[in-house]
Amino acid sequence: MSQAVHTPVRRVAVVGAGTIGASWAAHFLAHGLDVVVSDPAPGAEGHTQHLIDGAWPVLQALGTAQGDPRGWRFEPDPVKAVEGVDFVQENAPERYEVKRKLLPLIDAVLPREVVIASSSSGLLVSRFSDGCRFPDRCVIGHPFNPPHLIPLVEVVGGKTASRAAIDAAMAFYKAIGKRPIEIRKEVTGHVANRLQAALWREAIYLVQEGVASVADIDAAVTEGPGLRWALMGPHMTFNLGGGQGGLAHFMDHLLPAVESWWADLGTPNMTPELQRTLVEGVKAEAEGRSMTELAQWRDKLLTQIITLRAASAAAADLAAVEARLDEALEETFPGSDPVSVTRQTPAEDIEGDPSAER
Ligand SMILES: NC(=O)c1ccc[n+]([C@@H]2O[C@H](COP(=O)([O-])OP(=O)(O)OC[C@H]3O[C@@H](n4cnc5c(N)ncnc54)[C@H](O)[C@@H]3O)[C@@H](O)[C@H]2O)c1
Repeated sequence: MSQAVHTPVRRVAVVGAGTIGASWAAHFLAHGLDVVVSDPAPGAEGHTQHLIDGAWPVLQALGTAQGDPRGWRFEPDPVKAVEGVDFVQENAPERYEVKRKLLPLIDAVLPREVVIASSSSGLLVSRFSDGCRFPDRCVIGHPFNPPHLIPLVEVVGGKTASRAAIDAAMAFYKAIGKRPIEIRKEVTGHVANRLQAALWREAIYLVQEGVASVADIDAAVTEGPGLRWALMGPHMTFNLGGGQGGLAHFMDHLLPAVESWWADLGTPNMTPELQRTLVEGVKAEAEGRSMTELAQWRDKLLTQIITLRAASAAAADLAAVEARLDEALEETFPGSDPVSVTRQTPAEDIEGDPSAER
């Protein structure tokens, strides 16, 4: 069906302001949007400000903090909160019964063209938007914790959302510096959480089987494949694993081995004892660092990785522009030395400019 959507987005409602909602609020504020936050919990307004204040230095380090960290409004009633907004980001608890009650309340008062995106980590949107007047405007916009830092947002339209609503959500997230991906078919856990769950299942199984300690299994990720995963996913990683022959050679060579590993992977039996072993294991791995210290350390290094990747992408863009310029110059002035032309500094352009001496 055709559904006009609201663009551009200037006013956003964040409904549900726990860990994820408050972080989204910080991100939206940092991008200069008008933000209204709604949450029924006592003390939610102060808690949200506390989380936004905590996120702000990181957003400043990333160079995105344009807005005012105090320039948002709190409204406990979600129906009043969404009045006049162009986009809703819902972050209520991860339970069908909560979202199935909340969404129709919001949907009932919002103009047709406003998209409602749910941060749900793994619920099917079509199972909680069905009580809405316009279920076709409801999508999943699943971020990663913390949303003000991690670029990925999984957009899922499921069985009910319109093409226009999916496109509008993708465009909005892109415009505010996110890396949205479209999940074409709704499945529990979307994509990234299924991948995480698959790895964690095997990690726990290996602990249960006594293959290695909790800390060593974590190190097997962070000191090895995890370093590459910040740059390329499993397909591209194994494409490089095949050398010049790429993924085709990798599969020719190693698929039988990988298939024998797949056949041997396990499912842990999550007994209370195993759960205690995991909790004790991460306690030992933390070596006395508090949750706050660990989170600050994680966010600091994540910021550095994100900055490094952005700088590398910018350098690649610049190199591409320079190459195009070289080509254009070569066409215009065949036989000239494009490098000496394009690498001229502004000072060299100005004869007699004293700054050229420096
Ligand atoms: N925590 C994560 O790592 C993570 C990551 C990505 C997505 N998510 C998703 O984000 C959503 C929120 O998760 P969270 O971790 O922030 O949970 P949370 O428990 O920290 O926050 C939930 C907030 O919703 C509020 N709330 C309760 N009932 C409500 C209602 N009827 N209307 C509006 N707000 C209500 C609560 O007061 C609370 O502040 C979930 O759908 C979750 O799956 C979580």
